[in-house]
Amino acid sequence: FADKYLENQHWVITAGPTREPIDPVRYISNHSSGKMGYAIARAALSAGAKVTLISGPVALEAPIGCQLIQVTSADEMHQAALAQATDCTTFVACAAVADYKVANIASEKIKKTNDAMQLALVKNHDIVADVAQLKDKPFVVGFAAETQDVEHYARGKLMRKNLDLIAANDVAKENQGFNSNDNALTVFSSIDKTEIPLANKQQVAKQLVALINQHYQQKHKV
Ligand code: C5P
Repeated sequence: FADKYLENQHWVITAGPTREPIDPVRYISNHSSGKMGYAIARAALSAGAKVTLISGPVALEAPIGCQLIQVTSADEMHQAALAQATDCTTFVACAAVADYKVANIASEKIKKTNDAMQLALVKNHDIVADVAQLKDKPFVVGFAAETQDVEHYARGKLMRKNLDLIAANDVAKENQGFNSNDNALTVFSSIDKTEIPLANKQQVAKQLVALINQHYQQKHKV
């Protein structure tokens, strides 16, 4: 069936934020809702793909039919992603991974005895870049949330992280992107770009999934 055009594909999708522990009761995180990643998972499922959704903590229901792997920190997401990525056709990195983690996580709750304190941070692994370095790498799609020079920064990430496609959203614009129900994307490959106009995230996801598959088929054409 034409509407089940992803029937023989396995998609692994990362979604949501990560939480970086500070001590047993505190963490560093961000406002990612996970909506875009979950919408992509639903769209890929309805096109017939097998879907593994690696998700940070979000308030969303798992799409019916997907394998949901729940993680908390970037290190956990990194481990799950690399384990799943060896066995998939397409990897979509939609998660808002924390750039840094706490260098020394306190084993006991930190007391407020000092007037000032400093937290040392170290960089997290770049999950999508590591997946794109795998010997048998899947078709790899990243996201870029930019507030300025969208094309310049998105193309930079496409090259630097060895991605096949990058979907950029202009987070400086109102009513789209982070935490909103709507989104608009510009999708870059090394040779072209495609606009997906402002619509609700489920409609955007449907178009993005079809576009990813077009590029995937193009790449694997004999
Ligand atoms: O470099 P930047 O964070 O802007 O890149 C965004 C893209 O990289 C997204 O696809 C995001 O999911 C992915 N990423 C990742 N691991 C990180 C940081 C970003 O997979 N540690």
